[in-house]
Amino acid sequence: MADQAEGLRNRQDRQGQDDPETSTPRVVSITSGKGGVGKTNVTANLAFVLSETFGKKVLVFDADLGLGNMDVLFNLRPRWTLRDFILEDRPLSDVLVPGPAGIRILPAASGVEELTALTPQQNLKLISAFDHLSEDIDVLLIDTGAGISENVLTFNLASQETLIVVTPEPTSRTDAFALMKVLNRRQSGKPLLFLANMVRDRREGLELFDLVSRVADRFLPDLNLSFAGYLPQDPSVTQAVRNQKALSEMLPGAPFSVAVRQLARDLLSRPPREGIRSGIGLLMKRLLSPRQDGRPGLSEDA
Ligand SMILES: Nc1ncnc2c1ncn2[C@@H]1O[C@H](COP(=O)(O)OP(=O)(O)OP(=O)(O)O)[C@@H](O)[C@H]1O
Ligand SMILES: [Mg+2]
Repeated sequence: MADQAEGLRNRQDRQGQDDPETSTPRVVSITSGKGGVGKTNVTANLAFVLSETFGKKVLVFDADLGLGNMDVLFNLRPRWTLRDFILEDRPLSDVLVPGPAGIRILPAASGVEELTALTPQQNLKLISAFDHLSEDIDVLLIDTGAGISENVLTFNLASQETLIVVTPEPTSRTDAFALMKVLNRRQSGKPLLFLANMVRDRREGLELFDLVSRVADRFLPDLNLSFAGYLPQDPSVTQAVRNQKALSEMLPGAPFSVAVRQLARDLLSRPPREGIRSGIGLLMKRLLSPRQDGRPGLSEDA
């Protein structure tokens, strides 16, 4: 741990505006223990803002493999989906769909059971395809399904940072804690960022974070958990969903949209964890290479 921390610090010291290392794609997964807490809305809005406001080249991967609905949220009608890439060998470039503000979306298939658990070969195929794209991406956002299924864990392990979306509901807190526990066991020290959603204000967001981190301090002392920010409960979010637009595009002045811009700003100001020029594919390959127990991810003592 001390070595890792030192390595990170040294890298941060070396990073300047024109250091090519800072242009390495950043891979952020957006996840949760409990379903329906706002992951897809957070991803869509973050993607829009990162592109529109901060000028980043953004790719959104809808990794809710069997039940993806990112395309619905953006009112897109993809001709092909991940299914065509994985099962029918359609090139990834055909499957990517242009969204608002220049973002690109890799749509998941909906209702395709074969995709709910990718095989290691299918994972590798996906990873190599991302590798070819990595020069053209600043930020890859991965919207995962909820829970602790192998797919969800795989994509969370393959990202550099994981945003865990938590709402004030007690079940959201306990499920988030369960997810953190499993992720920490697979990849100790991995940066987990706590995002409080549907709260009244920053204060309630921080209180929620406090509740969870106090339990974590007690039971998971090596958990690397920090507060990423909060997003307010905002009725306009539902309105935007109905209009099939990101709220940040529909109403940039809405409290939720303002908070998303702050979240994006804070995210970009964090030094990227892996300052390597490996590209997304190599990064994922390293993170997903099987451990001794055959599961993907870094071994516990890595
Ligand atoms: N900050 C917010 N304020 C008000 N409503 C919100 C907010 N965030 C999300 N919602 C609402 O919560 C519902 C669920 O959101 P969303 O689909 O993004 O969740 P999810 O975590 O992706 O769900 P799933 O686990 O099914 O993939 C939506 O109807 C959305 O409008
Ligand atoms: Mg979702």
